[in-house]
Amino acid sequence: MNGLELVAAGHYLPQKILTNEMLSQMVETNDEWISKRTGIKTRHLCENESNLDLAYQAAEMALSQANIDRQKIAVVIVTTFTGDYYTPAMANILAGKLKLRESVMAFDINVACSSFAYAVKLAQSLLAEDNESYALVIGSEELSKVTDFTDRSSCILFGDGAGAVLLKRKNGLFYSQMGTKSDVETLYCGGAGHENRYIQMQGQEVFKFAISVLPKTIDELLAQANLTMDDIAWVICHQANQRIIENVARKYKANEKFFVNIDRYGNTSSASIPIAISELLQAEKLHKGDKIISVGFGAGLAWGGVLWEV
Ligand code: UT7
Repeated sequence: MNGLELVAAGHYLPQKILTNEMLSQMVETNDEWISKRTGIKTRHLCENESNLDLAYQAAEMALSQANIDRQKIAVVIVTTFTGDYYTPAMANILAGKLKLRESVMAFDINVACSSFAYAVKLAQSLLAEDNESYALVIGSEELSKVTDFTDRSSCILFGDGAGAVLLKRKNGLFYSQMGTKSDVETLYCGGAGHENRYIQMQGQEVFKFAISVLPKTIDELLAQANLTMDDIAWVICHQANQRIIENVARKYKANEKFFVNIDRYGNTSSASIPIAISELLQAEKLHKGDKIISVGFGAGLAWGGVLWEV
């Protein structure tokens, strides 16, 4: 089977940390409410850094871990909905900054918080039958640009950050599941012609959607692969709310397999899954040959999951 080796990963969070205490000076909220309802304690925000800086640092970290010939990188996919420009794509600028070959296929995709699965699926397809090349997938978001810091129901949730994975074709398990409900109103952000550039969200509706679509996607992936949760080393859900992750983990009686770092970073949209993968690799808790599931959900309303043997 056309699979993907997880060769290396990297992540980067901007320097500035915004605590719940600091937020309680800005809007009517408090640490207890935020911790209890979301699990978030701190998040990182760009001050003097651009989204491109985040992506670059995460990518460089991944490349430094791998020590490969950069000229063999054939594909660069950046996932973001908060790029520095409408055009060019972040991936185009990043490829130059990373000094990659000119013939690299570099592009951005935006499926909001679900993007990682789509990008990895694209990498798998683009590297099929190619045993020489690498693909670099970077989730990078500067959500502070589109966060309304006067709206207590949303500003407590989001953070900035980037995660990168370096991938190579291998023979191994690889399954994916994607979908969309074509719903704008529940969760959207700006766009040409919209005066309000901030994220607009019906929190409870998104919550309900998440706790139904996550187990559905995980079940479908396990069924496709003919595996059970016992075979899976880690389930990495998009980090949107700790209560969402705990709700899903309870269904599988597998709390310890559901990775959580939302307490430190908040919701970093499409960056949350690659940041988590990078942290797991750094901590030597993720090993070659492990089978993992990652699942994202968000605006679209869309979702995307992959089950793969890394
Ligand atoms: O990647 C994008 C995906 N987004 C998500 O996954 C978000 C999913 N949804 C959620 O995580 C939760 O719905 C929220 C964290 C956004 C909200 O939590 P909730 O438990 O659904 O709270 P709620 O909206 O039902 O609000 C409960 C109460 C309300 O007050 P009343 O009407 O009961 O008096 C809110 O006004 O909490 C109030 N409230 C707050 N209080 C203190 C809302 N935000 C805050 C706040 N601090 N920051």
